[in-house]
Order: sequence, then C-alpha cells, then structure tokens
Amino acid sequence: MNFATALQGLQDLEPTVEEFRDAVFRGLGNMPKTLPCKFFYDAQGSRLFDRICELPEYYPTRTECALLAARAEDIAACVGPQVELIEFGSGAGVKIRLLLAALIDPAAYVPVDISRDHLMLAAGTLARDFPDLRVAPVCADYSNPFALPHLPGLFPERRVGFFPGSTIGNFTPEEATDFLRGAARLLGPGSMMIVGVDLPKDPAILHAAYDDPAGVTAAFNLNLLRRINRELDADFDIGAFAHEARWNRPASRVEMHLISRTAQTVRVGGRRFDFRTGESIHTENSYKFGIDAFARLARAAGYAKVATWTDPAALFSVHVLEAVGPS
Ligand code: AVJ
Repeated sequence: MNFATALQGLQDLEPTVEEFRDAVFRGLGNMPKTLPCKFFYDAQGSRLFDRICELPEYYPTRTECALLAARAEDIAACVGPQVELIEFGSGAGVKIRLLLAALIDPAAYVPVDISRDHLMLAAGTLARDFPDLRVAPVCADYSNPFALPHLPGLFPERRVGFFPGSTIGNFTPEEATDFLRGAARLLGPGSMMIVGVDLPKDPAILHAAYDDPAGVTAAFNLNLLRRINRELDADFDIGAFAHEARWNRPASRVEMHLISRTAQTVRVGGRRFDFRTGESIHTENSYKFGIDAFARLARAAGYAKVATWTDPAALFSVHVLEAVGPS
C-alpha cells in the first residue's frame, strides 16, 4: 500500500467554540469553580504537554514507554495478529510505535484525539513510517460516543483499544467505568483494551511531577486561561493566577488548581465572573489506582483482566483487558 491510500480521510468531530464557551460558562458558574481538563489540549497546550512528558520529574511517560517496550512481545501475544487498533487520545503518537514494532501484521490504526492539527500531523508521519498500515484518524472528544470510521475491505481478527498515559485517571471512577463500558460497546465482544494506569505512591514524587521547578506544568495549566482569552473574547490577567498541585489522599488523586492571587472580576464572552483572593478554579483530577482497585473498576465495566505489568519501582502499570460483558 502506498502513503496516499494508507492515510484515510479525517473524521472530524472537533468540539466547536460554542461547546467550549458553554463548558466555560458552566464551570465558572459552579461553586467551587471548575474547568474541564480536556480543553487543555489546543495546539499550544498539546505542545506544552509534550514538554511535560520530557521533564525529569514527570515519571509516567518515561516509565510507561519503558514498560511498553519491555512487554511489547507479551502484549502482542495477548492480542494476536491482524488487529484493528483504536487509540483514545493519541497525542503525538509516540507510544503506539512501541506496540506496532511488536504486533503481528496489524490491520489498521484509528487514532482518536480532540486536537485536530496535532492529530493530523501525527497520523501523517505514522502512515509514512508504517506504509502497510491503514491509518484512519478521528478528531473527537472520546468522552462522548462516536462511531468508528468505516474501512472498506478491512476484516480485523480483533479490535483492540489503547488508552495509555493514565489518561483514564482524568475521569472520576464512575466516569472511568462508564468510559470502559462505552469502549466495550464500541469495540464489540471479544475486543481488548490496553490501559496505562498510574499507581498511588509517595506524595513528594507526585507533587514534583505535577508542579515541576521549570514551570512547564504551571504554563500548561495557565494556558487554559490563555486559550479562553484567545477563543472566547475574555480578559483573564494570567499573572493574577497561580498554578497549584495538591495530593488528595482520601480520593487518591492529584488535583490541579488555578488560584486567584487577588479579588478580581474577569469578563468572558460578555459575562462577568468574580473571584475572591485565594479562590480556586479546579482544572484537573489525576486519579491513581492500585492494581486491585483498577481490576475491580474494569470488572464493573464488563472487562476481565488478561495481564498486568508494572515497572520494577512500581510507579506505573499496564493492564490488558478483555470485554466479557456485564458481571
Ligand atoms: C496524560 C492526562 C493523564 O494527568 O498526568 C500532566 C495530564 N496534567 N501534568 C496526567 C497532566 C498535568 C496527564 N494525563
């Protein structure tokens, strides 16, 4: 197959500016204020996230990549030949390469991402590097239902979802269960999911990973306000907010907040929002699941565990799950 046929057309469901505005109005109208973390990933946010992944303090990316590379053959043996791969939140498309190197004759790759330009760039280079693979990008918010692209003449042995990065931790446990249930419905009976899950650990390690001394995570968090200014006719004073990362032990999650340094009023798309000194906008949760806690969550969503691996320091885990229907 040549490059022109390998890369299929884009299925475009990128959230509109109206959806963004509605979500921002709703979140800033909440008590306490919130903003959805999925809107971090515009072009600038995606670039900042890629820089986070390179930080010495941000262990998840490096650890998961080493784990995927070390276990690629085992994962390939679990899922079998000629699979259709569906990646939820494909980003720069680095991790899928570790699997593609080991999978036996993979049939197709469907990267799903909310950031269209980032997605198209990554899909293009991947199609060039794997000329025998059909690459069918879908720009969508995968926390909402979407359809898989129709690929004529494709008869995969199995559909396999790939959800790395512990992005599943950005959902509440209830949302994560719903997401997995939806994935099982989308991918069908007998399908599998490969999920990367960050483990609970020393809060000092977590804190450094989410509040790095170089300030890249702070810039990533604050970019959400910059994006609101860029796209929604708003006047956030970026310097008047501070990045904060908190380990919420009872909930087993790292929270990111943007703290108002002063009492201030911000205009967003014709509305006004008041902030008290020290008031927070809660922008992200990053849940950490122990091995058993995650297996229970997956079981509740209709998945049986096929295999689990962790790195030697037990920082991160990779699970292979099979859709077996309701328990
Ligand atoms: C890849 C979305 C899971 O929660 O660790 C990185 C995002 N936030 N630093 C994570 C993120 C702050 C990341 N996810």
